[in-house]
Order: sequence, then structure tokens, then C-alpha cells
Amino acid sequence: MFFTRDIGIDLGTANTLVYMKGHGIIIREPSVVAVDVQTDKVRCVGEEAKAVLGRTPDSVATVRPLRDGVIADFDITISMLEDLIRRAAGNSFLIRPRVVICVPSGVTGVERRAVRDVTEQAGARKVLVIEEPMAAALGAGLPVSEPTASMIVDIGGGTSEVAVISLGGIVASRSIRVGGDKFDAAIIAYVRKNFNLLIGEPTAERIKIEIGSAVPLNGDGESELSIEVKGRNLLSGLPQSITITSQQVRQALQDPLSEVVDAVHYTLERTPPDLSADIIDRGITLTGGGALLRGIDRLIHHATSMPVHIAENPLDCVAVGAGLVLDNLDAMADALSEEDVPRYNSEPTG
Ligand SMILES: Nc1ncnc2c1ncn2[C@@H]1O[C@H](COP(=O)(O)OP(=O)(O)OP(=O)(O)O)[C@@H](O)[C@H]1O
Ligand SMILES: [Mg+2]
Repeated sequence: MFFTRDIGIDLGTANTLVYMKGHGIIIREPSVVAVDVQTDKVRCVGEEAKAVLGRTPDSVATVRPLRDGVIADFDITISMLEDLIRRAAGNSFLIRPRVVICVPSGVTGVERRAVRDVTEQAGARKVLVIEEPMAAALGAGLPVSEPTASMIVDIGGGTSEVAVISLGGIVASRSIRVGGDKFDAAIIAYVRKNFNLLIGEPTAERIKIEIGSAVPLNGDGESELSIEVKGRNLLSGLPQSITITSQQVRQALQDPLSEVVDAVHYTLERTPPDLSADIIDRGITLTGGGALLRGIDRLIHHATSMPVHIAENPLDCVAVGAGLVLDNLDAMADALSEEDVPRYNSEPTG
């Protein structure tokens, strides 16, 4: 059989996922690229590159080409997408795939254009750019096209996106450049200030995942946690290990977490009253890696009094949503703009 392998891509600040029609999610890689400094050649992409983050000799640089949800390094993003698209499309790469790719809802026209351009340069035949909260809601199984409001809060690595969706459109939304990366940075700053200890991003992320929480952990079989971490003492310059507790990490996360809560409030305040009523009934759905932070659902519930649910597989929702759009691409072809129409005639014939 010979057919085009269309793919959906969640190009995330922390993770990039690829969904293939008929196969589901086939690639999940950290958005990290290791580059040879001398030659600018890409050494490796994804998990392999993340493993050496902060541990490379001077000749190799590890780059995270996205920051705060948008492309920070154009060329490296192209290299990364090229690698992933090639892996996904395999032998059928001669026929370039159509790609559905997501951008945060708060991006500028230029940033959106940049995503389209890099995807084309990375080998896509046709690119459809959709908004991340819409993809997240679709992937979480919310009834986005019905005349009832769904509220989604997607907490990623670089951005948190809050949106109320009804009848296939975004009715109210807020996108902030606060997410897992800011949580990690807050932990680094806390440890530096309170322990005089310098730790790297991978260590901060490990602390967050292993003992991080948004609300006190005392009750219902939960108890406060602690972890031993190593870093470099700023005064002596020597390696040192310390024990940090979940209470301390919670204190470190207070500011970025309250920014997320504020974004939810902001969006609720701008939601038309009849749709607000739907949200009281149907609640708020959390997606993205940040939805896995202990007690974040309880924090948002306490702050809003709304029911809060964590989506199943919150890290996958955006990619699955992009895939659902892909499945409907043929049906939607009429609705796409002229520049989206596939250029079958320009395919090389041999
Ligand atoms: N169990 C966990 N607890 C807390 N945070 C977590 C957990 N698992 C993953 N994360 C965080 O989730 C973030 C990655 O989430 P996700 O893959 O949704 O982001 P992304 O889509 O790449 O980013 P963005 O959408 O902002 O561009 C990282 O910051 C990671 O540290
Ligand atoms: Mg994301």
C-alpha cells in the first residue's frame, strides 16, 4: 500500500509528540537537541540529548530550541522537526506528509508564521496550525463543538493556557508564560537563597516531580515528603548534599502557582454567564505535564469552587487532539484557506 502518512505534532517547550493517523502517538521526545559547537551539526535529538543536558564538554552544546511556548532557535527547531518527521514518516518520506501542529493561543502572528515556516522547511507538504488549548480540549475528550462550555487548563513546560470553548471556538482565554520551567526556576532560586546551594535544571525538575505539591500533604493517606539533593555550595565552591522538604518546595512554588490560579480567575471573569453555569456543572479539565503536580486540582478547586478533573494521560492530550483534527482533515479540506491546499502537482515524479 502506498499512501501519505499524515501526522499531528505537539511542538512543546518541554516535549514534542508525534501522532500518526491510524497509529496513535508514535514519538514522544524531550524538545532538546545536542549540537556540535564547531560544525553546527546535530549530534542527537530528544531523550539522548536530554540525558546529557548540563553535562556536555565544551565541544557539544545542548539546546532547548523552544522557550515559553514559542520558537527561540529557528534552525535548531527545523533540525529537530526534520529528525522527528523523518523518523515518523520512515520509508514513505518521499511523499512529504501533511502536518497539523499546535501553537499557544497567546502567540503573535509572527510567532505563528514561524511555526508554519519551520514545519514546511522540516519537510511538511502542507501545514495546518491550530491552537493548543483547542487541541488539548479535543484530546481530553471534551465536547468542544457542542453549545455547552468546556473549560481547559493546560499547564505545559513553557506556558499555561486557560480557555473556555463552546461551539468549536474559544470564547474566553488567557495564556501566560508560566509553566513547569518557571516552577523549576523557582526551586533553583529557593535552594540558592536558603541553602546557598547551586543546582541545575534537571535536579530542580526531579525535586518538583518527586516531592512537589500545590497544597499541604497531610491527610487521606498523604504525608509531607523530603528528598536529598546534591549541588555546589556557593560559598565553599565544593559539592554538597542537602535535604529539602515538600513544605519548602511548596513555598518555592507559591508565586508561579498563584499566577496560574490568577489566569483561571481572569478567564472565568470574562466568560459569559450562561457558559459559566455550564462550567459549574461540568467543571474544569486539567491537561499538560503540570496537571501531574500533586494537589494542583485541589488548589484550583479551592480557588474557584468549581469541580476540577485531571484528564487521562494529561501529557498526551494536545497530540491526540492534533491527531483528531488530522482524522478530519479530508472532511475539512474545503474549509481550509488557499495556501493550505495540497500542491499535488509540484511533487517530483521521479
Ligand atoms: N509528575 C509531575 N509533576 C509535576 N510536573 C511534571 C510532572 N511530570 C511532568 N511535569 C512537568 O511538565 C512539563 C512538561 O509538560 P508538557 O509536556 O505538557 O509541556 P509542553 O507541552 O512541552 O510545553 P508547552 O505546552 O508549554 O510548550 C515539564 O515542566 C515537566 O517538568
Ligand atoms: Mg504543551
